[in-house]
Amino acid sequence: MTIIPTGSRSMSEVTTTPGSTEPVLGSEHELPEEAREIVFEIRNLAVRYGGALAVRDVTLDIAANEITAVIGPSGCGKSTFIRCLNRMNDLVAGATVEGLVRFHGEDLYDQRVDPATVRRRIGMVFQRPNPFPKSIYDNVAYGPRINKMKHNLDETVERALTHAALWDEVKDKLKKSGLALSGGQQQRLCIARALAVQPDVLLMDEPCSALDPIATARIEDLMEDLKREYTIVIVTHNMQQAARVSDRTAFLTTEVDDSGHRSGRLVEFDRTATIFTHPSDPRTEGYITGRFG
Ligand SMILES: Nc1ncnc2c1ncn2[C@@H]1O[C@H](COP(=O)(O)OP(=O)(O)OP(=O)(O)O)[C@@H](O)[C@H]1O
Ligand SMILES: [Mg+2]
Repeated sequence: MTIIPTGSRSMSEVTTTPGSTEPVLGSEHELPEEAREIVFEIRNLAVRYGGALAVRDVTLDIAANEITAVIGPSGCGKSTFIRCLNRMNDLVAGATVEGLVRFHGEDLYDQRVDPATVRRRIGMVFQRPNPFPKSIYDNVAYGPRINKMKHNLDETVERALTHAALWDEVKDKLKKSGLALSGGQQQRLCIARALAVQPDVLLMDEPCSALDPIATARIEDLMEDLKREYTIVIVTHNMQQAARVSDRTAFLTTEVDDSGHRSGRLVEFDRTATIFTHPSDPRTEGYITGRFG
């Protein structure tokens, strides 16, 4: 399924600023790059708020069935970046996006793209679990209902809760409020809600920062399972988490220009093992060893 309705002509040349299309190379020790199916091609991405630059120079590829971690100090633009991947910045007043984001080869910012279709295919989970004040069942059924995917709704709900490793804990209380669950369960409920519409991609912005170590470990185990079917991008402040769960890591940092304006930029993107053992930029090494940021 495509995000651009069939029968309409491409306008990508006029709606975006195409950037470099050079491939992004990882370390030489693993699978050749051409063996990876690229889900997102991101070239020279920059975001401004009210004209002020927030983040720039983001060029990287995100591959299918991989977990890509985004790390960097507070304010470097991690959330801003991840929101570009499902057009959430469209909803932020004053935000403008420059550069190119292709999703399965199609320009995500093409004028003909339906943002509702994009957000169905690219789900998002936030820092604080945010269940709706509805039953567990209705939380998970919400997306399928508004997307008119009501066929076999009970099965869809069970499948999503099973995928989110929550089914066994809630199967006897589906009519209870989602807000009555623990924080870790609420976060898995939000993951189930995102999975219920059968997305391709799960974007997670610090999904464990409000959770204890046990709930965090459950979510990390879950991510490992989910990547067999989904492509995951996770923003995290937790270095160990990035090292444990991700296949690739993007490190962003903040720079201050001559006029004192701070903005973020991508410093390095590579296989996670490379980033954590042989980073090529001293700023990356400084950050991951705790000397900076
Ligand atoms: N809605 C907004 N309006 C204006 N400026 C914003 C908005 N959201 C973020 N910014 C600015 O953009 C920059 C990047 O913010 P962002 O939230 O993306 O950083 P972050 O890396 O996610 O930080 P943190 O680790 O603290 O979550 C910051 O300077 C921030 O003040
Ligand atoms: Mg953030």
